[in-house]
Amino acid sequence: MGHRKLEPGKLVVASHNKGKIREINELLAPYGFDVVSAGELNLPEPEETGTTFEANAALKAVAAAEGSGLPSLADDSGFCVAALGGDPGIYSARWAGPDKDFAMAMRTIEEKLQTGFSSGAEQNRRGSFVAVLCLAWPDGHQEYFRGEVEGDVVWPPRGTEGFGYDPMFQPDGHDRTFGEMSPEEKHGLSDDREPLSHRARAFTLFAEGCLKG
Ligand code: IMP
Repeated sequence: MGHRKLEPGKLVVASHNKGKIREINELLAPYGFDVVSAGELNLPEPEETGTTFEANAALKAVAAAEGSGLPSLADDSGFCVAALGGDPGIYSARWAGPDKDFAMAMRTIEEKLQTGFSSGAEQNRRGSFVAVLCLAWPDGHQEYFRGEVEGDVVWPPRGTEGFGYDPMFQPDGHDRTFGEMSPEEKHGLSDDREPLSHRARAFTLFAEGCLKG
């Protein structure tokens, strides 16, 4: 309702993150776009200077749409730990450092939680993943879709599937972490089930808003 439709054709995925590009391609597969990534087009990776997921998604999508002259889709996402005031949040990639060391980033989260608990903070291990999609057209029009999934922050991390913080997140209603789930289970898009992952939830809204009908 009120969303601009995206016509079939070339679509730029405005990301340089291999894990995310793979997931976005999986989620776009049913819709028959000719998908090309920002990296393949040699588009520069803009600095994520925004202070919200929406602002950072827009920075990436708008830069790619301007640079390519094609509609461009960006995802800004992150892991939000309630007891850490929502950190690492929009800084999720940065907490892993230049070497993208997520084992270290997960340890940092656990250490900060333990420091809080040992100084008397409530034993709150709740967390969520958030994904905001921005679809930008070369004429400047933008559409936004937000998906979230709530669950527990577990320690030690479990599983080797997925990427990033997946091994330390167990979504509500499941007894395995995202790191222990196949991509199909993590997205949870099959049959009549609700989508599960934040990215699949944002994608479902995107598909309903811009792709169908
Ligand atoms: P972005 O490229 O700024 O959106 O960074 C998002 C970061 O959040 C990624 O590098 C991961 O660290 C984390 N993240 C986002 N989505 C997921 C996910 O589905 N699983 C695990 N980590 C994620």
